[in-house]
Amino acid sequence: MSNVILVGAQWGDEGKGKMIDLLARKSDVIVRYQGGNNAGHTVKFSNKTFILHIIPSGILHPGKVCVIGNGVVIDPKALQEELEMLRRNQINFHNRLLISEQAHLIMPYHRLIDEYLERAKGKGKIGTTKKGIGPCYADKVARLGIRVIDLLNDRVFRQRLRLVLTEKNLLLKKIFREQILSYEKIYKTYTQYRSLLKPYVRNTSIYLDEAYRRHKKVLFEGAQGTLLDVDHGTYPYVTSSNASAGGALTGTGVSPARIDRVIGVMKAYTTRVGEGPFPTEFTTSLMEIIRKKGEEYGATTGRPRRCGWFDAVIGRYSVLVNGLGELAIMKLDVLDELPEIKICVAYRYKGKTYEYFPSDIEVIEHGTPVYEALPGWQTPTTHIRKYSALPKNAKKYLKRIETILKTPISVVSVGSSRVQTIFV
Ligand code: GDP
Ligand code: IMO
Ligand code: MG
Repeated sequence: MSNVILVGAQWGDEGKGKMIDLLARKSDVIVRYQGGNNAGHTVKFSNKTFILHIIPSGILHPGKVCVIGNGVVIDPKALQEELEMLRRNQINFHNRLLISEQAHLIMPYHRLIDEYLERAKGKGKIGTTKKGIGPCYADKVARLGIRVIDLLNDRVFRQRLRLVLTEKNLLLKKIFREQILSYEKIYKTYTQYRSLLKPYVRNTSIYLDEAYRRHKKVLFEGAQGTLLDVDHGTYPYVTSSNASAGGALTGTGVSPARIDRVIGVMKAYTTRVGEGPFPTEFTTSLMEIIRKKGEEYGATTGRPRRCGWFDAVIGRYSVLVNGLGELAIMKLDVLDELPEIKICVAYRYKGKTYEYFPSDIEVIEHGTPVYEALPGWQTPTTHIRKYSALPKNAKKYLKRIETILKTPISVVSVGSSRVQTIFV
């Protein structure tokens, strides 16, 4: 294994944290390339649960270098809390956390605007995490952002903050009819964050190039999922970054020529948090059954996740967009008790069949899923460690997914802990 991108292939929360934790053992450097603390990546071992929002999940492995790339948006307050959490748990990150000087900072007005915009949209809201992610990326593209390097230079920071805050205060006052923010207060708080960030900041593209030249193995940790990608997802019900494999390149400054493998992480069913179309969403008591068994509550916001059948239409699309060479199928155990399990193989809308994910939101919202039904295995799998030992119907289900997606499954996960993993 050399340079690997691991991406969420559905709507996020596929179990990326667990997979990164497993793959980190064979990697030297783990890099987050997009998103911010809207992510919640869970890692469980030795009866401990860690939820990482902004720091790569590889940080739990001693000696591994973790990089927050230029494509990530950083809320220094959230970073501070996460560093404290690591210290409390005696995770030593000294000399092995690097932060890109080009990453953009989430500012207090980003969080407020996220909240006010959602409020203004009413029923049309996105259901964001309200962490300020969208407004921060919007400012980046509008060239109104403040980067980590800008914060480190006091003169530049003062200038940028004055310029941007003038615009933001107009917006807060005139459009949202809310309180304006004090320049002095933000300046003071963020100069404290300057001292917090400074020891970790560097040009991480140069660091990653050096790592490559020293034959280090780099693991790229995607956040969110392909269907939440701002370009490829269920727009406008998406996040504001490129969660798919392409984001790993622009979000780190690493050339595509240096990537060896792309692994897609999928649940054995589908979930989604927030608003937006979800064709295979359960409409029966299965919603509660799967939510309970799968503990489907957001790792960042605690919101109940919407649950549904495995959707091979989005699966096929994820394989295509990311160039997935292999799949990690997570949470197979959650389906253990079901007598029958369905796979959506196409959508039908106005007499047309869609096998690939349609861009027209109306088709996604109103299309009817075409299902294949397979018999369940109705026996526990959580103790199984070998593929050959899986129940016959579980293997049939997995084989069917492989066939439809034309992609091999390399990992099957049957529980949240490190050991509950089958390498195929
Ligand atoms: P991420 O955002 O992709 O890292 O995923 P989350 O951490 O938000 O959500 C995945 C949840 O599923 C976490 O609570 C994991 O501990 C849990 N999990 C991961 N793999 C499995 C599995 O195979 N079986 C079960 N039952 N839970 C799992
Ligand atoms: P991980 O990395 C699942 C969803 C939000 C909302 C939409 C936009 O843990 O898989 P945002 O705050 O990003 O502007 O919200 O995206 N969302 C996620 N859903 N997992 C995530 O991250 C998510 N990050 C954002 O619920 O629908
Ligand atoms: Mg998550």
